[in-house]
Amino acid sequence: MGSLTTDTFTEAGLREHLTTEKLGKSLYYFPSLDSTNIVCKELAEKGAPHGALVIADAQTRGRGRLGRTWFSPAGGLWFSLLLRPNEMRVSPTHLTFLAGLALAQACTKNGVNASLRWPNDLFVGAKKAGGILTESKGNGASFDYFILGIGLNVNIDLDAFPKELQEEATSLSIEKKEPISRTQLLAYTLLLLEKLIVGIYPKQGFGPILKLWKKYASFLGTQVRVDTSTESIEGEAVDVTLTGALAVQDIDGIIHEISCGDVRKLW
Ligand code: BTN
Repeated sequence: MGSLTTDTFTEAGLREHLTTEKLGKSLYYFPSLDSTNIVCKELAEKGAPHGALVIADAQTRGRGRLGRTWFSPAGGLWFSLLLRPNEMRVSPTHLTFLAGLALAQACTKNGVNASLRWPNDLFVGAKKAGGILTESKGNGASFDYFILGIGLNVNIDLDAFPKELQEEATSLSIEKKEPISRTQLLAYTLLLLEKLIVGIYPKQGFGPILKLWKKYASFLGTQVRVDTSTESIEGEAVDVTLTGALAVQDIDGIIHEISCGDVRKLW
């Protein structure tokens, strides 16, 4: 594997590569911070504009879904976007799908065969390589802002992962067997995401986006177990609905629509 020092972030380099109109125009780069989502939220409270991007080389308190921690050493792509609903009309649930699709397309373009697992995980083969944590202020009636946090294991060696993660996590560089430019990957992801947010979604709705998302969803048609906060459901993952729910058909043929949970493939 090539040296990771060939892939350093600089603010100038990031600015030079970004070709988006709004996403990342306001840019905050940190060599290390606690969590880009936390800092992005602080900036949101201080009035930072729609599209503000917080990016770090490493996080000391990276946050995952459901209160988990997110391992975030130097070499990964850890960033958060501040999105203001008055500038875009996307529901937080749909936003996670748009981001997943942009991420999967960007990885594929970079030569890594990525797949998506409901609701927000990026996999390469059987191992997780990235995830999305969408947070918001406000409620369905009036959201103040969204924080879209994206974590992607880009240039991280296997032995850098804690032992307990080595079985289930991977990085793009492990899979591709060479380092990948995080700056280019970020710039491409943001460009795709902006196209989805301001182009396809408002003009054509969620339908075509979900259709594209499903092309990466290799878990569909497989046997899964979904753990929700109240129950565990086993069956075939048959579909993802327009509301973003996962439909699982159990052994009795009953279809359960699940809006929040954790999916594990059974075989
Ligand atoms: C998951 O649990 O799969 C979601 C992980 C999201 C991690 C990213 S890294 C950048 C941003 N900042 C955080 O603290 N978390 C998200």
